[in-house]
Amino acid sequence: MTTTTQGAARATGAVGTAHTRVEGRDKVTGAARYAGEIPYDELAHGWLVLSTVARGRVRTVESDPVLAMPGVLAVLHHANAPRVTTDYIGIVGRPDPALGIFQDDRVPYVGWPVALVVAETSEQAREAAEALVVRYDEEPHDVEFFAGHPGLYTPQDSPLVQAEAVKGDVEAELAASDVVVDAEYATPEAYHCPLEPHAATARWDSGRLDVVDSNQSTVWVAGELAQLFSLDPASVRVRSEHVGGGFGSKGVRPHQVAAVMAATVLHRPVRVVLTRRQMFSLVGYRSPTAQRIRLGADPDGRLRAFDHQAQSLTSTVHEFVESSAVLGRVLYDADAHRTTHRLVRLDVPTPTWMRAPGEAPGSFALESALDELAEKCGLDPIALRARNEPGAGPVSGLPFSSRNVLACFEEGARRFGWADRDPRPGVRREGRWLLGTGTAAATYPSGVGPSTAAVTAEADGTFTVRINAADIGTGARTALTLIAAEALAAEPGRVRVHIGDSDLGPAMFAGGSMGTRSWAWAVTAAAGELRERLALGGGIPPEGITARSDTTEAVGGLAKKERHSFGAQFAEVAVDTTTGEVRVRRMLGIFAAGRIVNPLTARSQFLGGMVWGLSMALHEEAVRDHSSGGLVGADFAGYHFAANADVPLLEADWVEDPDPDDPVGIKGIGEIGVVGGAAAIANAVWHATGVRHRQLPIRPDRVLLAAEGSRSA
Ligand code: MOS
Repeated sequence: MTTTTQGAARATGAVGTAHTRVEGRDKVTGAARYAGEIPYDELAHGWLVLSTVARGRVRTVESDPVLAMPGVLAVLHHANAPRVTTDYIGIVGRPDPALGIFQDDRVPYVGWPVALVVAETSEQAREAAEALVVRYDEEPHDVEFFAGHPGLYTPQDSPLVQAEAVKGDVEAELAASDVVVDAEYATPEAYHCPLEPHAATARWDSGRLDVVDSNQSTVWVAGELAQLFSLDPASVRVRSEHVGGGFGSKGVRPHQVAAVMAATVLHRPVRVVLTRRQMFSLVGYRSPTAQRIRLGADPDGRLRAFDHQAQSLTSTVHEFVESSAVLGRVLYDADAHRTTHRLVRLDVPTPTWMRAPGEAPGSFALESALDELAEKCGLDPIALRARNEPGAGPVSGLPFSSRNVLACFEEGARRFGWADRDPRPGVRREGRWLLGTGTAAATYPSGVGPSTAAVTAEADGTFTVRINAADIGTGARTALTLIAAEALAAEPGRVRVHIGDSDLGPAMFAGGSMGTRSWAWAVTAAAGELRERLALGGGIPPEGITARSDTTEAVGGLAKKERHSFGAQFAEVAVDTTTGEVRVRRMLGIFAAGRIVNPLTARSQFLGGMVWGLSMALHEEAVRDHSSGGLVGADFAGYHFAANADVPLLEADWVEDPDPDDPVGIKGIGEIGVVGGAAAIANAVWHATGVRHRQLPIRPDRVLLAAEGSRSA
């Protein structure tokens, strides 16, 4: 199926050519409309009211005064809202019970939806929502996450995360090691903060539920809404044309459920848009982590023992594991190898996937620990990694589909000027600044999911591609245009791609760096089939000729292998130990992440990830107030992330690394850019100052405190 298309396709060279976004002009001129902007007749507006207590029960919702306010149409809450079921298994498992809004009076955290006020205008709804009095019976809560919490337990294995993986006797190998690193690391609670807030409009249209939304998969949202409201899946349509960022937060969330409930009750279209503040409790986040890493090595740096213990939190209503320890199962071999996850249930919202879930915080700890081991062994950090390069999966024993991490280090070291580096810490001064450089490895799984596609040869000589992809800002629509053009041996300008509509049929969601790869496979297969039919001749009828594909069997039949992308991150920092200021001066990321479809948008993906790494290293930290149970400063004033002035010259590039088993050679690039970035910066801060920072973010007060400590020591 795929060999013919591949051979024919490579000739036109659309894939690998820089191409601006096909919808770019629409976006910059405002012609592209986002979910919250599309006009409807008779549109009503819903505004969510969120709990202000961290644990307890809703005693009363005092609706009457609010119903008398101008324009108010309804107040939905646990006593009057339509019933839904959360007792089902969706495509990512059991749903977060938070989707079962207004089903009972239980409040499991601050920011849980307790009511929806619907009014003629958004302003009226907001005014009334803010006036709504809700009374609670409060219960004591616990929101405090810390290493070694007495409530820690081992989570169930899931298809997504294996809680523990053990090979050999770690304690024995540690005892026999000449060099040991034993260190604890901590990362804070962090938020996706996509620029476009979540927004959904629901209406009933001739017996069909029609939802316009901003999400990472319309087929996912449609499927879950069908289950929640016990509807025939064919009677639910979800569209999501343009998405202003998702990063793992734009799945099924309470606002879509609220919009459907209100549209059902009021028999008119209802829109629910989340405010920035509401997004800090309704759409997930990255759990804080506490990680302990123990490495035991021979004097030459060869690892005998590898132990990564990761702790994170979940809510009292749902289980989510931040899989921080999984990347060691890929990166480094050792005689004995152990990676474990523990969870504690707290009275907080359920965390979720956030760009490089697991690998992002896990790589901070692991790649910092590797740097500490290199220091102890007197080895160059890159040489240490080369010494522990596995020939096969360190725990699985499976072969790697391809593994080019050392090629990334080699190319990165050359371009960054690593060879001239003086390994001694704290010896480079430039005025008030201490200078240092650091490096870290990156890895992220390369997965693929089944998808369907249809490609039509139109009578006018153009082509139409239909695939239920989601372009969440990655440039997927453009990438698929190039993929189709190449597979059809056509100019990209003759190819039109329709995405973001559940009526287009099942397809992989935009997540896990699997979107473009999964969709490209289906598009390539359908286009190949179409070319074969066109080659038979006979002309094109007015309705065109359409070929379809379904990759379920092809992706299901892939041989079991370790399939991952890799990379090497480099950073240079300047640290002022009298003010505590850390500035990143430059970063370079070199990636081995499969064939690159569109260098222009791919570079943006890598750079965007690297900015996250910088932001994670120096800025991002949500602070929970233990007495109220809520967040302090849950907005863009209180939650700091890297802004333009924080981001210096960043460079991202790649080495040749086509996936040998993918028809296009793709591996997936959405997440790996963030992996290892924070560690490279933390390692550079050590190299600048001689002080290890094992807790993120590396805030000025922490730099000052550490400098104080090293002076008095
Ligand atoms: Mo990504 S965190 O799988 O959207």
